Amino acid sequence: MKYKKNIFSINNIAVSKLANKFGTPLYCYSFEKIRENIRNLKKNFKSISPLMCFAVKSNPNLRIIHEIGKMGLGADVVSKGELLKALKAKIKPNKIVFSGVGKTKSELNFAIQKKILLINAESESEILDIEKIAKLKKIKVNIGIRLNPNTDAKTLSQISTGKKENKFGVDKMEFLKLAEYCKNSKNLELKCLSAHIGSQILNYKPYEKMLKVIDSILKKLNHKFEYIDLGGGMGIRYNQKDKMLDYKRYNYFIKKFKNKNKNKIIFEPGRSIIGNAGVLLSKVIHLKENKFKTFIIIDAGMNDLMRPALYNAKHEIIPAKKNKIKQNKLYEFVGPICESTDKFLTIKKFQKIKKNDLIVIRDTGAYGYSLSSNYNIRPKPAEILVKGSNYSIIQKRQKIEDLI
Ligand code: LLP
Repeated sequence: MKYKKNIFSINNIAVSKLANKFGTPLYCYSFEKIRENIRNLKKNFKSISPLMCFAVKSNPNLRIIHEIGKMGLGADVVSKGELLKALKAKIKPNKIVFSGVGKTKSELNFAIQKKILLINAESESEILDIEKIAKLKKIKVNIGIRLNPNTDAKTLSQISTGKKENKFGVDKMEFLKLAEYCKNSKNLELKCLSAHIGSQILNYKPYEKMLKVIDSILKKLNHKFEYIDLGGGMGIRYNQKDKMLDYKRYNYFIKKFKNKNKNKIIFEPGRSIIGNAGVLLSKVIHLKENKFKTFIIIDAGMNDLMRPALYNAKHEIIPAKKNKIKQNKLYEFVGPICESTDKFLTIKKFQKIKKNDLIVIRDTGAYGYSLSSNYNIRPKPAEILVKGSNYSIIQKRQKIEDLI
């Protein structure tokens, strides 16, 4: 995904061509970038050879899950809907893990019936539900218990999950108690300790701390966990100033841990696979100037890309076609939604821009489409996958009639 003679292109296909053909707003993904990200993860974590389960919540497009599955990955799901999608995308049940604090009995029943690899339980109440179902079916169900290691992931507070005040997992004392319970249950097979401390993590130190807490638990418990599921959270560079997460350092600490404890490792990466493999294309509808700034009103809104409104996240915005006429003005890219938080970026300069120009919002492959909504009765955008010199619709644009 780069400029080719001033034209922003995906595999040599100008994004303006895609926008003209499929309309805007439009999510576009590069197959090659997804593959590169997966190869990069596999290479850097080769020595611990983790089972990587793609976090479906980051991008639940069927075709994307399928392509990722073909590269050997499993899936991490958090609802019956995501589980159904993963299965439909031909992910094998023995490569699916189910996380989440609020799994209903019917969701648990379904997951058990499908014989997925692991249900990572997050409370005593959930464990008792699983046990009841297993007893009725006269079977033993493979489960994990999610630990809340009380580790600061040093990321946005809204996407931090591993501190004691967060709802996720159980603390160390509770973990030990629940593990003893499971060990004595005829219907539960305690196979895994899982943890996920947050998302968009760029520093390996929180992971190092998390591993220390896990290690201290293993020391206390006389139990062989087949799997240690370390969750996802590996961050990407949204900004040139962001420092990349040092995969090698992270791998080093896991390897040390693994050599000692001899468990299989599971990862649940989402953003690190799909985040920088997607862009959102949008067209300028109006320009409006006041005493303070120039609003660039685009046809994508917070309903299409929620991250800036929800977390004050910054996504770089670039022109689809460079014109080299720089303008030093205070610009604010905003959407058409009736909310003041419906704004994407405020910047001090941009190239000369006019009505109908096409812009590219970068790094929107993860938690872009998946967080989109129909707020203000706006149809969800289409999604396009570019693979080699071909491209295809992998999700049709919703029709306005469907919403009326
Ligand atoms: N595993 C579990 C249990 C999770 O809760 C998550 C993300 C992942 C794996 C994947 O994390 P990743 O590798 O993608 O960081 N909507 C927010 C991110 C929320 C993440 C929720 N859990 C955002 O747009 O930044």
